[in-house]
Amino acid sequence: MKLALATAIGAFSLDEDLAPLREACAEAGIEAHALAWDDPTVGWARFDAVLLRSTWDYTGRLPEFLAWCERTAAVTRLWNPPGVVRWNTDKRYLGELARQGVPVIESHFLAPGDDPATLPDLEEFVVKPTVGAGSRDAQRYVRDERAAAIEHARRLLDQDRHVLVQPYLKAVDEQGETALLFFDGQFSHAIRKGPLLKHGQGPTRALFAAEHIQSRTPSAAEHEVAAKVLAALPFDTLPYARVDLLPSADGPQLLELELTEPSVFLPYGPGAADRFVAALKRRLG
Ligand SMILES: Nc1ncnc2c1ncn2[C@@H]1O[C@H](COP(=O)(O)OP(=O)(O)O)[C@@H](O)[C@H]1O
Ligand SMILES: [Mg+2]
Repeated sequence: MKLALATAIGAFSLDEDLAPLREACAEAGIEAHALAWDDPTVGWARFDAVLLRSTWDYTGRLPEFLAWCERTAAVTRLWNPPGVVRWNTDKRYLGELARQGVPVIESHFLAPGDDPATLPDLEEFVVKPTVGAGSRDAQRYVRDERAAAIEHARRLLDQDRHVLVQPYLKAVDEQGETALLFFDGQFSHAIRKGPLLKHGQGPTRALFAAEHIQSRTPSAAEHEVAAKVLAALPFDTLPYARVDLLPSADGPQLLELELTEPSVFLPYGPGAADRFVAALKRRLG
């Protein structure tokens, strides 16, 4: 059995999940190769499946990435499948999940053509593109900085990007963010991520902002919200899913649902690599 682990030319050395994944694959008798999605010399058809891992540079060229996903899925199995990737690479899915009763962080959307001056009046808030990753182009503002926030939104809208505005959930500063990892719908492990948006600091220019990660045992309330999120998805059970939650006065709320190319933080979950690979092996048959 041959499995391709899809990374990006610019991300090979940054993906801490690749080494434990390869090791677990080898133990399970799966031949795994890490290859870059943006390397045009790769023949994907020779793999039994292609697993999206660290294709983190697609945000600036989403149509190209989605076209690659479709082409790849036409010649082998792509996990997660292209329909899932198309839906999940634009945070407007948060609006859809909120309408289904999932506790999502209050989210306001602006579309190209909208007046950025109509962004909601919030005490402290975040402006970010709906297509983004690694905190790039995300920035935190207070009410007094509304003019700068409007300019930020205008820049994104002028680039034909949709914009997401959310209240800044301050509890993240002490409690951090919780990411729950699921393989084949089964909970595997969770991590705590420290707060990423410093006040007054411009957006990161790196492929992703530096993160402070620890393993974490989720609360019952976090498990409950994550289960609700997964149950609301318009897809069959997926090989992998990561549910990112932030604490709020009203309980945990969905920040982001990662079904495309999430770090799965294998070094922080004892046995996690084996669980992930076992789930993939069942699908490979
Ligand atoms: N509404 C918010 N309240 C508090 N922190 C936020 C909020 N939105 C984003 N952040 C911070 O910015 C980071 C990146 O935002 P996120 O929505 O996860 O986008 P990305 O796709 O770039 O990971 C989060 O991990 C969190 O630290
Ligand atoms: Mg995130």
